[in-house]
Amino acid sequence: MGTTGTDWWRDAVFYQVYIRSFADGNGDGVGDLRGLRGRLGYLRDLGVDALWITPFFPSPMADHGYDVADPRDVEPVFGDLDEFDALLADAHALGLRITIDVVPNHTSSEHAWFRAALAAAPGSPERARYVFRDGRGPDGAEPPNNWPSVFGGPAWTRVPDGQWYLHIFAPEQPDLDFGNPEVVADLEETLRFWLDRGVDGFRIDVAHGMAKPAGLPDMVPMDDTGLLDDHGPGDHRFDQDGVHAVHRRIRAVLDSYPGTMAVGEVWVSDDDRLARYLRPDELQLAFNFKLLTAEWEPTALRDAVVHSLAAVDGTPAPACWVLSNHDRPRHVTRYGDGELGTRRARAAALLQLALPGVAYLYNGDELGMPDVDLPDAALQDPIWFRSEGAERGRDACRIPVPWSGSEPSYGFSSGSGTWLPMPEGWTALTAEAQAADPASMQSLYRAALALRAGSPAFSGEGLEWLPSPEGCLAFRRPGGLVFLLNLSSAPVPLPEGTVLLASTDVTGGELPTDAAAWVVA
Ligand code: NOJ
Repeated sequence: MGTTGTDWWRDAVFYQVYIRSFADGNGDGVGDLRGLRGRLGYLRDLGVDALWITPFFPSPMADHGYDVADPRDVEPVFGDLDEFDALLADAHALGLRITIDVVPNHTSSEHAWFRAALAAAPGSPERARYVFRDGRGPDGAEPPNNWPSVFGGPAWTRVPDGQWYLHIFAPEQPDLDFGNPEVVADLEETLRFWLDRGVDGFRIDVAHGMAKPAGLPDMVPMDDTGLLDDHGPGDHRFDQDGVHAVHRRIRAVLDSYPGTMAVGEVWVSDDDRLARYLRPDELQLAFNFKLLTAEWEPTALRDAVVHSLAAVDGTPAPACWVLSNHDRPRHVTRYGDGELGTRRARAAALLQLALPGVAYLYNGDELGMPDVDLPDAALQDPIWFRSEGAERGRDACRIPVPWSGSEPSYGFSSGSGTWLPMPEGWTALTAEAQAADPASMQSLYRAALALRAGSPAFSGEGLEWLPSPEGCLAFRRPGGLVFLLNLSSAPVPLPEGTVLLASTDVTGGELPTDAAAWVVA
């Protein structure tokens, strides 16, 4: 393995495999475990330490796998348990660790438990695994409270006998009741099922959900209550104190499998509230989403770093940096798309990989993939349907990865059709073309990951901010790495020392606008 010991994850680089879009091994146009298995060598050569594979469990795909019908099996579209075991063995043989998604907050409406709940009467033990309530108003015809669904519309759906059930996400994703010991026990069984097979850890979906406040009070109405928002104290759907009891149960299971870990998807922006998830008996890591949401602007980027470090300060956890994932516009696009967005993304990669702690890359970051504007007819995200076309959803950042060749599907699949269409003109973006080009994004990532893993300049936790020209960010790591990012409109002098790596040509001794450099004295 690239990093050793039970806390191998403390400075690891994880690579997020959005399974539908990474590599298709059977020609049906949807990525799968066999396709991933065939690309493990690429990931090892890229230099990542571990993978996070998004849900591959049986699912009707109302939310592309985040609606899980059976958390202890493999969806046939993605393979089977034997294929998973083979993938795990191959990955471990190459020194890559495997972490997988767990979706505790909700099940699919096709899960056996929810079918049983619908068939059972109000007040039954079957319904008590979920959040069923009587409605308000005459005949109970109004939802039990005013909570909106993250995907648009109310968070409640009525069933034929008149009761309502809660779904913070799509109606096909009913929320479980974590006050019910059976629900917690089932989660533990799922964790053990995969740990016994040999996985190295988990990414916990909606890790700030799960607990709901007693009495399910109305929440403060908010203009925008979507997945990616800063859920403040008035939003009772998330970050309830009771959620920490669930994290302690998860941690207790992990502690009985030394060397395993969990990272939480915790959309909580208050530093102190986020820190609570990182107490010694809770999550090992929580995504610091501030870098993912920051504008390409010096104050915003510096604040993102400062707050992310402040959140973990005083906890056992390192910071955990993310630039893109399957829920957000890709950073090439956020930073301006085209040549501008790509230039900035190169500099951002050096920022992310210079920071102390853990880095999560999203598949295609290393190729500089942009978002793709898809026609209405191609859109599949439930956000598009639930918002009745008001929001386009997340399909644009989920386009299949281009591997080789000059036409769709660029080696992603043996067929030409892909579950989301791939555009023309991506020849230069393919992994194959970039491998042959020393100036490519992929070559930058390979060089950066090799240096990060091998140079003592990256050692030590924390950083010291350095004085820098106006519009620039500069810091030094304890091991001696000096990082400089130029966000001003003119070139600035490079720090004294040897340039280990730069996001652009710096042979003139200056760092151009929207560029970054790694220097050692
Ligand atoms: C967060 C996941 O990242 C997102 O893709 C999903 O839609 C929601 N959780 C619901 O599970």
